[in-house]
Amino acid sequence: MNNELDKFINLEEGWIDRRIFSDEEIFRQELEQVFARSWLFVAHDSQIPNPGDFLTTYMGMDGVIVTRQKDGSVKVFLNSCPHRGNRVCFADAGNARRFACNYHGWSFDIAGSLQGMHEEYCYDPGDIDKSKWGLKHVAKVGNYKGLNFATFDPDAPSLEEWLGDFRWYLDLILDNEEGGTEFIGGCIKSEISANWKFGVENFIGDAYHAGYTHDSGARAMNDGNPFPPIDMESSYHASVNGHGYEFGTEGVGDLILLGRPKVIEYYDKIRPKIAERLGELRSKIFGSVASASIFPNVSFLPGISTFRQWHPKGPWNFELKTWVIVNKAMPDDIKEEITKGVMQTFGPGGAFEMDDGENWENCTTVNRGVVTRKEKLHYRCGIDRRIDHPQLPGVVYRGQYNDANQRLFYQRWADMMNAPALSDMPERYKSVFGGRETRDYPGINAL
Ligand code: FES
Ligand code: FE
Repeated sequence: MNNELDKFINLEEGWIDRRIFSDEEIFRQELEQVFARSWLFVAHDSQIPNPGDFLTTYMGMDGVIVTRQKDGSVKVFLNSCPHRGNRVCFADAGNARRFACNYHGWSFDIAGSLQGMHEEYCYDPGDIDKSKWGLKHVAKVGNYKGLNFATFDPDAPSLEEWLGDFRWYLDLILDNEEGGTEFIGGCIKSEISANWKFGVENFIGDAYHAGYTHDSGARAMNDGNPFPPIDMESSYHASVNGHGYEFGTEGVGDLILLGRPKVIEYYDKIRPKIAERLGELRSKIFGSVASASIFPNVSFLPGISTFRQWHPKGPWNFELKTWVIVNKAMPDDIKEEITKGVMQTFGPGGAFEMDDGENWENCTTVNRGVVTRKEKLHYRCGIDRRIDHPQLPGVVYRGQYNDANQRLFYQRWADMMNAPALSDMPERYKSVFGGRETRDYPGINAL
């Protein structure tokens, strides 16, 4: 597969081969080359505040347990017993002193260490060294402003390097008010029969679909008015190492779509403080029509407060997990208003959420046709609109209607699929991977 992906993606001409959304061999490679080597979001601090708190989630298709330790640190290990492989934890979340396997009763403490076994006398001296047969830990765990990430790859760069300048954009949602953020109201899981990348690319840059796909939803949430108009001169796509944020600078579009006037009032009140904290420009970006994704599989809407992860379940299916993210410092009634607004818009029956899944499922199914899959897909919108912006970090394109962030996401995806090791990533990631130039896409300059 290495170096064959040029035939699937051509970013100079602006097209993508449909097989990346359905081919089983490509999917198998994605799990190895992308998911087993990336930093992946695993938990928000607020989901596991106390020692013994845990949740179960996925890194790619590998199940993991995320636990808060007595010393406050977070450990992440495989949810798979080293005896025969059974799951050792079946709950989504909770508080535990140990995890005991259903099958033969091996039990592990919250650090994943093997503590004991059922009928332990059946093992003779020398049969098992318990210190070596604990649950398999990930290579590294990191935290950025409340978000915990983990990676299976010991050679992965630090989380700070991985996120790089994208932190400037992440702070819009994670650090716009003193005290940071929390997830509230639990997690909603949905199964969608679509390729996971359709969800990520929709949030990373596809403002284009919003006014059309979501026309009726926008009217429902905005007193019968259509989607707020996009000003192509003062809106942008920004991409850093494949992470992407598309946004306006009008300050209220997403807050209007949330449909909760009290929330708009709240942000009007704290906006001068946001400006003090994040600067004038970011205080105008906050609340605007915007959406974002962190490479490879997390997305969020900063003004609408939905935070989500797309877990692959095969080339044609994913599980979507969604949470409501709020500022800890907000009064309870504002948190409640935001929760209701998120449910009305991006809950499973929300005014916007329902429209997207159907499109992604159809894109996935139709792209599998034996003749259809040989045709290209068009990704060239706004290809010549790259600008140098004095304040915005990353690769910036003018105009929120653009395929730029999508192209740069797929560039990062292809680069990881091609690189034998992370140190082989192209020069444009050198600040991240210290790698060497292996290939280049003309028309997209080095970062
Ligand atoms: Fe877990 Fe045997 S599979 S104890
Ligand atoms: Fe949408």
